[in-house]
Order: sequence, then C-alpha cells, then structure tokens
Amino acid sequence: MNDTIKLMQAHRSCRSYTDEPVSDAMLDQIIRAAWRGPTSINAQEVSLIVVKDAARRARIAEIAGGQPHIAQAPVFITVIIDFNKTRIGVENAGQKQIIHESMEGFGVAAVDAGITLGLLMTAARSLGLGIVPIGGIRRDPQAMIDLLGLPTLTFPLIGLCIGHIANDAPLKPRLDISTFRHNERYNSNGYAAAIDQYDKTLMSYWQQLGRSDGITWSANLAYNLKQVYFPQVKPVAAKQGLLNDK
Ligand SMILES: Cc1cc2nc3c(=O)[nH]c(=O)nc-3n(C[C@H](O)[C@H](O)[C@H](O)COP(=O)(O)O)c2cc1C
Repeated sequence: MNDTIKLMQAHRSCRSYTDEPVSDAMLDQIIRAAWRGPTSINAQEVSLIVVKDAARRARIAEIAGGQPHIAQAPVFITVIIDFNKTRIGVENAGQKQIIHESMEGFGVAAVDAGITLGLLMTAARSLGLGIVPIGGIRRDPQAMIDLLGLPTLTFPLIGLCIGHIANDAPLKPRLDISTFRHNERYNSNGYAAAIDQYDKTLMSYWQQLGRSDGITWSANLAYNLKQVYFPQVKPVAAKQGLLNDK
C-alpha cells in the first residue's frame, strides 16, 4: 500500500489540539493543494476564508453550538459556495447568471465544496496535522455571514479545524464495506443485518473509550434525522439569493 492510501485509510477526526501555531508555509501548501482541485465546468465557485484570530475562532465555536475544539485549533477554514465570483464572469460575457436559483446549482457547488474539504483534510493530515470538519456552522449561517462579511450569492457551507494534535483519536468503525460498495446494481439486502452488527460494534467502541454517553448508530440517526437539524439553512440561503425553485 502506498503512503497516500495508508494516510487516507487511517482517517480520523481530531478534537484535541496543542496551542502550537500552524506555520504559514504549511497552511500555504494545504491551501494550494485544495486550489488545484477540480470543479464542475471549471466554475471555481468555491472560496476559502482562513480565520486564525482567537476571538473570532471563539465566536465560531459558539455559533457552531459550543464546540471547544474550534476555539482550540489554531486555524479554522470556512468553505464558501461562491456564486458571487461566477456572477462576475457571466456578466463579463453579457449574460445574467441563473444557476444559483436551482437545485443543480446548490448541489454542484456542494459537491465542489466537498471535494475542496477532502483535499484540505488530506493535505493537512499528510503534514502530520489533525483536522475535523465542522458542519455545525450551519446551525446559524447568518451569524457566519455577518462574521465573515459574506455578500449575496455566497453561503458558508462547511468549516474545518486544523492544528497540531494533542491527543490522537482511535479509528471510528464503519458500517460493513458491503453497504458501501455495490457491484453493477444497487443491493440493500444486507443492510438490516449490517446495521444491527454495527450498532453493537459502535457500543463496544464507546465502551473501550470509557464513553458512557455513547449511543448506537441507529439511535444517533434517529436523534438527528427525525428533524431538519439545521433549519436556518433554507431561509438564509434564500436570503443570500441561493434558491432551489428551478
Ligand atoms: C460534513 C461534515 C460535518 C461535520 N461536522 C462536525 C461538527 O460540526 N463537529 C464535530 O465535532 N465533528 C463533525 N464532523 C465529524 C464527524 O462527526 C466524523 O467524521 C464522524 O463521526 C466519523 O468519525 P471520524 O471522522 O473520526 O472517522 C463532521 C464531518 C463531516 C464530513
């Protein structure tokens, strides 16, 4: 197995950081690795905002529902859907941009932002740093928009903590790979058994970590997915001009 695949197969999120800063040279390499990433039709409708300031990170920790690792990690990057950038290109060519009013637009920008996030994570981890993605910023997207000074046609989709690891986390088990890889056709026959097994595996994992608050995968999904857990996304995205009615 080569080193890149070893690194990727050893992925785990880190929520415990030292206060050692991430050097500008490291951060520049990480960002340039993500900048080279592909985007649909080469739209490049993704931008990054790097926050290092401790008070601003503390504010993001609060916006995300009280996540102390955001205040602790020395770097927080917000991945922005940026149809404001593409609007300028469309207008340069004498047309009016419409894509940001569609499901296709939001979906494709979310894919491109997700690729960016993945590249940032792999690059950071390859330098020995720890990372954890932060969807919690969508709990209050308007507060992120205000903090980062985001204009119309932009949206703060996902964040990422980066820093030097204080306490490394063990690998979190996954559902059996047969629920992930399907051959030729979709096949959910094994799902129920795999999920029962995984609920047990995850409970032993929490026990090994001494985490009495650990719950099964099914219970975690029920808790989160019985509702729209970040209900502010739709109205705030609409306010930013990002609609999904086309
Ligand atoms: C899009 C996305 C959003 C996430 N948001 C958060 C978050 O707000 N806070 C957090 O602590 N972890 C967050 N995570 C990390 C997941 O909880 C984590 O990836 C998952 O539990 C699997 O654990 P592992 O990454 O250690 O393998 C997020 C992960 C992703 C991919």
